[in-house]
Amino acid sequence: MLNFGVIGTNWISKKFISATQTHHHAQTVAVFSRRQQSGQAFKADIGIDFTVYDQLESFLNHPSMNVVYIASPNHVHFDQIMMALKANKHVLVEKPAVISSQELQQIQDYLREHPQLYFMEAVKQTFFTAFHAVEKALPGIGHIIGANLNYLAYDENKIQFAKQEPLPSVLSAACSQRCPV
Ligand SMILES: NC(=O)c1ccc[n+]([C@@H]2O[C@H](COP(=O)([O-])OP(=O)(O)OC[C@H]3O[C@@H](n4cnc5c(N)ncnc54)[C@H](OP(=O)(O)O)[C@@H]3O)[C@@H](O)[C@H]2O)c1
Repeated sequence: MLNFGVIGTNWISKKFISATQTHHHAQTVAVFSRRQQSGQAFKADIGIDFTVYDQLESFLNHPSMNVVYIASPNHVHFDQIMMALKANKHVLVEKPAVISSQELQQIQDYLREHPQLYFMEAVKQTFFTAFHAVEKALPGIGHIIGANLNYLAYDENKIQFAKQEPLPSVLSAACSQRCPV
């Protein structure tokens, strides 16, 4: 059974938690929010029973949790990943998993020494049927010297999202590098 602990309380965590409840081998048992109050509000909004923690150490000590899903801003991923791995939890982390190759190297080094742990970046596209169709067709195409694969969709919600003040962390240059939390 995958017993998820979830870090972050934005819409992506909400969608993720709802998805865990639809699978008979998965469930969400704990959520970490920096504030107990916002964690409880998130829990009431979702309507699913899990324990809310506002201390990362206690969250990682939840008795039945075995996987951590990290959906916090990118610049805090690395510390949270390392804390979770050191607490012997598997990790699924939102993209981009880390913000430098040095961080990734440290994670890989740790995983090599702890082969019982699973680590994955939440890039779901590699599971899409279209992805596998392209993968299958590649040998027939022959030697590839270049490719442009662009998909763009503009909608009013995204444009409004990008105009928000302060800029959402997912679009913020400051949150793509180490900065004070
Ligand atoms: N937004 C998107 O469209 C999108 C799409 C694909 C992937 N992602 C990825 O999903 C992850 C989260 O993105 P998001 O847009 O949901 O980010 P966000 O809203 O800025 O942050 C997510 C949650 O993390 C906590 N948080 C916020 N600032 C923090 C800080 N400085 N330190 C620690 N925790 C903090 C907050 O929960 P509490 O207040 O409860 O602690 C917040 O609800 C990112 O890795 C992003 O790249 C986002």
